[in-house]
Amino acid sequence: MLSIIVLGTAAGGGVPQWNCGCDNCRAARNGHRELQATQASIAVSADEAHWFLINASPDLRQQLTQTPALHPRALRHSPIAGVILSNGEVDAITGLLSLREGTAFTLYGHQRVLDLLAENSIFNVLKPALVPRIGITPDAAFEPLLPDGTPSGLEILPFIAPGKAALFVEDSSANEDGDTLGFVIRDRASSEGLVFLAACAAITPEVEAHLRGAKLAFFDGTLFTDDEMIRLGLSAKTGQRMGHMAMSAAIPALDGLGIARKIFLHINNSNPALLPGSPERQAVEQAGWQIPADGMEITL
Ligand code: MLT
Ligand code: MN
Ligand code: ZN
Repeated sequence: MLSIIVLGTAAGGGVPQWNCGCDNCRAARNGHRELQATQASIAVSADEAHWFLINASPDLRQQLTQTPALHPRALRHSPIAGVILSNGEVDAITGLLSLREGTAFTLYGHQRVLDLLAENSIFNVLKPALVPRIGITPDAAFEPLLPDGTPSGLEILPFIAPGKAALFVEDSSANEDGDTLGFVIRDRASSEGLVFLAACAAITPEVEAHLRGAKLAFFDGTLFTDDEMIRLGLSAKTGQRMGHMAMSAAIPALDGLGIARKIFLHINNSNPALLPGSPERQAVEQAGWQIPADGMEITL
């Protein structure tokens, strides 16, 4: 059995975002607290005792407090056995700093992302002897191990997702394969699995092949339309420029791939599909997609 907890659903900044007065952020502060959402991350487990985080969001501390399955079961203990990074963006890595305090776990990421951590000495707060960093290779499936070296029962297949270098190194780093990964995550015993793509700029034949027939897919839901942030006066960048495919493009592109359950993840606070009853929300739901809430639990 594969157990999944959606720890956070929002894109960078969360909902509401500290400096944003857009309609969604204002609603989330005033009267519609149900719209509040933390930055995207999921937890997966094959045994419900040991969990792996897919990305460590800046909101991780709050997410852990709100998630009983991830609470300590002894004076010093954590059910978190490891963290697997899909990219090096601030909203994927900074939660690692909340995992200091001397508990062992294993950190997995593409060498491009591990290099970013190595260049930023603040991450040395996670001592390598306690938190080993393991490089992962696209198209090479691996079984993450528990801190005592025993197998987790999970199988993770990383694959290249079209994307870009992290925002904070954009000016100094060319985009390369490995900046953004998708994952196929399976329970080895049952073979049940999901596809995780919190950032994906386009559907390549490889991405399509992984999504085809998936039982569950989490897919990049940053924006509803590519020029949304420009039209709202929030940014000069399109979704494509930020490495994100808009929902309005993803919905038709993923239609017909036979994906049993489709959930958008990494949803930006500007996205009109966040608002129940909006035409965009209706379009998303009519196409068979789900907008999740923080804390959603799924078993496969
Ligand atoms: C993104 O997904 O585009 C990034 O999280 C941007 C950011 O760090 O704000
Ligand atoms: Mn992001
Ligand atoms: Zn906003």
